[in-house]
Amino acid sequence: MKPIETKFVKVNQVADETELLKAPAKALVEGGTVVFPTETVYGIGANALDEVAIDKIYEAKNRPSDNPLIVHIAKLSQLEILVESIPEMAKALMRAFWPGPITFVLKKKSVIPDKVTGGLDTVAVRMPENAIALKLIELAGVPVAAPSANTSGKPSPTKAAHVIEDLAGRVDYIIEGSDAVVGLESTVLDVTGDIPVILRPGKITREMIVEVAGNCEIDPGIVMGTEGKSASVVPKSPGMKYKHYAPKADVEVVIGTSSKLIPVFESYVEAAINGGYKVAVMSFDEDLLVLEKILKGKYTVSDLSAHVFLCSQGSIRNLDEFARLLFGGLRKSDDRECQKIVVRGVEEDGLGLAIMNRLNKASAGKVTRI
Ligand code: TXA
Ligand code: MG
Repeated sequence: MKPIETKFVKVNQVADETELLKAPAKALVEGGTVVFPTETVYGIGANALDEVAIDKIYEAKNRPSDNPLIVHIAKLSQLEILVESIPEMAKALMRAFWPGPITFVLKKKSVIPDKVTGGLDTVAVRMPENAIALKLIELAGVPVAAPSANTSGKPSPTKAAHVIEDLAGRVDYIIEGSDAVVGLESTVLDVTGDIPVILRPGKITREMIVEVAGNCEIDPGIVMGTEGKSASVVPKSPGMKYKHYAPKADVEVVIGTSSKLIPVFESYVEAAINGGYKVAVMSFDEDLLVLEKILKGKYTVSDLSAHVFLCSQGSIRNLDEFARLLFGGLRKSDDRECQKIVVRGVEEDGLGLAIMNRLNKASAGKVTRI
């Protein structure tokens, strides 16, 4: 594509940034593209009712246009413009979780261009919690279609620096806010039927949805992923079929207890040193502390710095931190030119389902339990 002169707007998450957000909001109304922070990941936004503007998103991201986009709103009154009806169950879920990291799939109205929904008769809608995102959408006064602001195929951006790396020169504005607090894309929930169905797991977990709706199913295509064990299951959320969240390095995921995993990590390091390449080990602080001690007793400092990158996923007691640091860790491992990444996997319940869904994709299904 022809390079665009991107304007950068630095915002402070706690201050009232209305003045700074007026120009990017105007750009949205006029058919431009604006990258903005949300609590999940950064998004690349355009007016959801403007087909020409939507094309610019696909072009900037290099994304196939059959993959539908999430439409972001700032207040409930905007929802009525977009959807046919809102089932009672969906209303209760919205009251419980909006604004926040959950997207609802509802029957769409015809005002929404097919380009936004990939030709489906439904639309995915989210009211984000991030104050900058909300203010921007409110100032624009239009619903904002916004996929994650990464080049298609790469891990979603959780920091302004990630977005600048991928999209500077390809969008009109980049709003540089703080790091994403959730770090994984929103839960996508189909609420068109009697029972809500999770199409993409996220921070709002199945357990949390059951508390409100009494019931919740999980699309079979997302448990152990599309490229993984259930390759024959066609995912309902079209985006789930693409290679995603993938760094350049080869990713392998290992699930087990710390005492079993640490010797496995050691063998990955040994293979890297013998094979003359670099490996990233992504695990909890507690594991990395023990591993580092063992490695320092076995190898020279120069061997370790040339062949090993220990990447912290936070404390074993805090899965939120694992989620928040995951995409950044994958990108950091690429920056440090690791050819291989071995990641500690987690159990597939609660937030663990979302983490394993992303890891399964990043590793193209290379998940083993020891
Ligand atoms: O957290 C998020 O949701 C971020 C931020 C920017 O809000 N956005 C995001 O958008 O992750 P994107 O485009 O990268 O992912 C949208 C997902 C895809 O998996 C897509 O297939 C699914 O939502 N989706 C969109 N519309 C749908 C629909 N009508 N039916 C089923 N799935 C849909
Ligand atoms: Mg995405």
